Amino acid sequence: MSKKLSHDFKKMAALGEKITMLTAYDYPTAHILEKAGIDVILVGDSLGMVVLGYESTVPVTMEDMIHHTKAVRRGAPNTFIIADMPYLSYATQADALQNAKRLIQEAGADAVKLEGGDEYSSIVRFLTQAGVSVVGHIGLTPQTAAQLGGYKVQGQDIGSATKILRDAGILTEAGIMMLTLEAVPAELAKRITETISVPTIGIGAGVVCSGQVLVVHDLLGVYDRFVPSFVKQYENLEPRILEAVMRYCSEVKTSTFPAQEHSFKLHDDVKQKLF
Ligand code: KIV
Repeated sequence: MSKKLSHDFKKMAALGEKITMLTAYDYPTAHILEKAGIDVILVGDSLGMVVLGYESTVPVTMEDMIHHTKAVRRGAPNTFIIADMPYLSYATQADALQNAKRLIQEAGADAVKLEGGDEYSSIVRFLTQAGVSVVGHIGLTPQTAAQLGGYKVQGQDIGSATKILRDAGILTEAGIMMLTLEAVPAELAKRITETISVPTIGIGAGVVCSGQVLVVHDLLGVYDRFVPSFVKQYENLEPRILEAVMRYCSEVKTSTFPAQEHSFKLHDDVKQKLF
């Protein structure tokens, strides 16, 4: 399977072929996603919550993102990878360029994603003019969820809906290759998808986006703290993993594991000399 490129996603959207995207943060998950034929892997800063156990994405650092993006690239050498720019890593043009360069050159990402609308259009323009592929993210932006009143659906009043519509257009003009729409009413996502010239990727944004993304831990049922209402859990692995670990503990305690077939044998001649 050869890696899709930025312009392939535009073609897919134009043809009405949905773009599939999931998060991954480690080698084995990335390997499985590539095997399954996923179009895009997102190394999301959601890793702060679902992998590192923080309360939010805010504590995630550039070093965390580099470390996990490298692992994902090793697991999925032929898949388009987007890496999130963590909180305050793109507050100035110089920081944004230096950090995007690290995620792409050092960690192997194909594109970077950053949260925010109009306020970040000059940063997006600066990055794209420098040759960086940038993915936008508007609606619910977890890095600034506290300012949005928590993890809530956005765009439900006229002011917020107008801003989201406007931001989508401004970011597109600034050069984004794709736009993530998180927790926005379906009608708003539909209007944006039909209006802008780049693919939209929905998460809690209805059915009319060009593609969909989910946090892989939510899809698999391995994150116990909070599952947003827009998530579909395709598996509930937590109880199955728990059961396997409990069986292992019990078998070790009762000397049922390891058994003969898990043991190595000493060669007879060595045994004779030794004992
Ligand atoms: O960090 C992340 O996983 C994301 C998705 C929820 C879109 O930004």
